[in-house]
Amino acid sequence: EGRRSWGRRVLGAPDTALTLLSCVPTAFESRALVSSWLGGEKRSPLQVLYDLDRAPRSPLAEVHRQRRDLLRRACSRHTRRQRLLRPEDLRHVLVDDTHGLLYCYVPKVACTNWKRVLLALSGRARGDPRSIPAHEAHAPGRLPSLADFSPAEINRRLRAYLAFLFVREPFERLASAYRNKFARPYSATFQRRYGTRIVRRLRPRADPDALARGHDVRFAEFLAYLLDPRTRRDEPFNEHWERAHALCHPCRLRYDVVGKFETLEEDAAFVLGLVGASGLRFPAPPRPKAVPARDQAARLFQDISPFYQRRLFDLYKMDFLLFNYSAPAYLRLR
Ligand SMILES: *[C@@H]1O[C@H](CO)[C@@H](O)[C@H](O)[C@H]1NC(C)=O
Repeated sequence: EGRRSWGRRVLGAPDTALTLLSCVPTAFESRALVSSWLGGEKRSPLQVLYDLDRAPRSPLAEVHRQRRDLLRRACSRHTRRQRLLRPEDLRHVLVDDTHGLLYCYVPKVACTNWKRVLLALSGRARGDPRSIPAHEAHAPGRLPSLADFSPAEINRRLRAYLAFLFVREPFERLASAYRNKFARPYSATFQRRYGTRIVRRLRPRADPDALARGHDVRFAEFLAYLLDPRTRRDEPFNEHWERAHALCHPCRLRYDVVGKFETLEEDAAFVLGLVGASGLRFPAPPRPKAVPARDQAARLFQDISPFYQRRLFDLYKMDFLLFNYSAPAYLRLR
């Protein structure tokens, strides 16, 4: 107990290999204490977390320690040998060199607000994170991604920085993606790009309007598209419905904090506390939803046959297991 640490190379050649940071008992300590962070004037977020873990623990630090342990156990139980990571696998990991942070963004899990906060933290945008327009937060290249660096530079950051991600109950995330991109979209982009494809492929005798616009995709059709083997053969899932583990590789990279959408406010404050930016408020969601996310997901899934429910659960199973979500009560898995 106590000596937790990570750090191991995946490949032989030292500086071209990506470090596999996982649960190898060697050097959290040396890793955390490596640096004279900013010339020794300030502890890095990783050091702050390390100190929190050694002190009599705060209840919140204890929650996060347990989540890390659970993730690590689930990884060793459920993953087999995996292919090596390439820099481009780290596209979703955003870098803040000023504070020593790595944030893996998962769409539909408050990622716009996290990008806003990172922009504000890094001084790339001024003022209150809430005032940063969404399109600016998402503009490619506004925040550097780990994939943009050389393997040696990636390894250095993986060793010294605090890495975190935010996850969400997988089916609530999926229901949110469906609503947001197909049922009530802000723009027709996804309907045109994916909706037309779904209608063409999966709806017999579709009318010409639906074929041209892809505007009326039903949830069942969306799920059938996800489960259709051709879909992932053609290209990877779009990031809005790709599994969080496939975007962030939590069994290959060491994440220090696993935040949850369900406890967004506390978890965001915990991360900002580690960064020493407690003064920065994580933007609150605009207003409580009329229908809670769980009920929306339950409503959408009630028309789905047990056969599809089971297959969909299998598709998203790793996200349930790794992040400690149980199968929702409304599913008919047997
Ligand atoms: C996992 O989930 C269960 C049920 O919600 C909860 O009681 C437990 O504390 C969670 N464990 C961790 C490590 O988060």
